[in-house]
Amino acid sequence: MREMERRIHPSLPPTRTWGFGATSPGPTIEAKRGQPIFVEWMNELPTEHFLPIDRSIHGAGPGTPEVRTIIHLHGGRVPPESDGYPENWYTPGKSLLSFYPNRQPAATLWYHDHAMAITRLNMFAGLLGLYILRDEIEDALNLPKRKYEIPLILYDRSFREDGQLYYPVSGIPGRPWVPEFFGDAILANGTLFPFFDTEPRKYRFRLLNASNSRFLYLSLSSRQSFWQIGSDQGLLQTPVELKMLTLAPGERADVIIDFKAQSGQSVLLKSDTYTILQFRVSNVPCVDGSAKPERLQTIPRILTADAVRTRLLTLEGGGDPDDPTTKTQPMLLNGAHWSDPVTENPALDTVEIWSLINVTEDAHPIHLHMVRFQILDRRPFDVFTYLNERVLRYTADAIAPDANETGWKDTVRADPGMVTRIIIRFEGFAGRYVWHCHVLEHEDYEMMRPYEVVAFQGP
Ligand code: C2O
Ligand code: CU
Repeated sequence: MREMERRIHPSLPPTRTWGFGATSPGPTIEAKRGQPIFVEWMNELPTEHFLPIDRSIHGAGPGTPEVRTIIHLHGGRVPPESDGYPENWYTPGKSLLSFYPNRQPAATLWYHDHAMAITRLNMFAGLLGLYILRDEIEDALNLPKRKYEIPLILYDRSFREDGQLYYPVSGIPGRPWVPEFFGDAILANGTLFPFFDTEPRKYRFRLLNASNSRFLYLSLSSRQSFWQIGSDQGLLQTPVELKMLTLAPGERADVIIDFKAQSGQSVLLKSDTYTILQFRVSNVPCVDGSAKPERLQTIPRILTADAVRTRLLTLEGGGDPDDPTTKTQPMLLNGAHWSDPVTENPALDTVEIWSLINVTEDAHPIHLHMVRFQILDRRPFDVFTYLNERVLRYTADAIAPDANETGWKDTVRADPGMVTRIIIRFEGFAGRYVWHCHVLEHEDYEMMRPYEVVAFQGP
């Protein structure tokens, strides 16, 4: 991890960022299932931060070093000591060796900083990158590969006129934390408005929404469809045809775009009204030997009958962002603070259902470390009754997940006024992990909790 100057656009002066080696975002790590790797994450950053730390937040209080990092492999089934526990941060000059077993199916994973109470700032500075795990099942599918397989890390940023990153502050003295960040522009692989020369054929894109808070609604200016073939934790059962792809912070999508019909044209990748990048499609005919298979893999459903327990977990708190007196309230998971005792303690290899009861007005992308899960449904409920009586009164039928959400997930969009149910098998390792909202401003201000996978204890 180093500080570096990087040109994000030819007409802007170099921008100070943090990254890995000489790149920001960091290099893409490619790993193979069955081949474990070690990564020594070395902190060679300066000792002063260049973004506004809030010392009033739990975990960033007086005496805490300004610059501290700990890297987490998002989506990795990793032993607890290598998972990047937020309190296991270390300072410049130190390093940590992490072990990644790679004993899980192929997926688009990513690594990023997870330091307690400053993750939003460290990631905003650029401490993130992709980690592509491959396996033979996927290799056999003949998907577009090598120069036709492109990682695309997307995040929004704002800049000052001198080209430097701008992160806002609340205006409250001593309490700079803001409840969300929405930037003026969406960057692709750390670059502003890039173009990409493409051939008139199929490409595979590994999309990651690494924004602090922004949900992406991706579409192509040609109004053509594309096919999502994978989600957070690997391939879907069948490709899902889309014209618009919603990606919450932390989510990934594996997508095939065919530029065949756009030969000689330019196609923009957009999110809402934001232009992200331009594909310049060549008019030179080419041979496309790659496939878009009809069937990708079989995903066995986790049966609700196998669940040993259902946990009702409320997503709550947070002030009114327009009201200066309440806008700095923390957001909480089930009313608990980070430092409260562990309450979620599933037994290793058991199945549980977690019902995420969102009483707030925002959608929260909820992420669990170590595990993969399936989405059962989302169901609207009467928030007022729940807040007053703690009684769940549903107001309509449950809604099945979208077709592109029916594969293995590790991050789920918990919509406002909905109970979002996920079903999880806690397989992998026993030990201490975390679950949290992946809106980084929320995560840093108490919307994160430890959880503990407990090894079976015999009678
Ligand atoms: Cu990508 Cu705990 O996070
Ligand atoms: Cu949130």
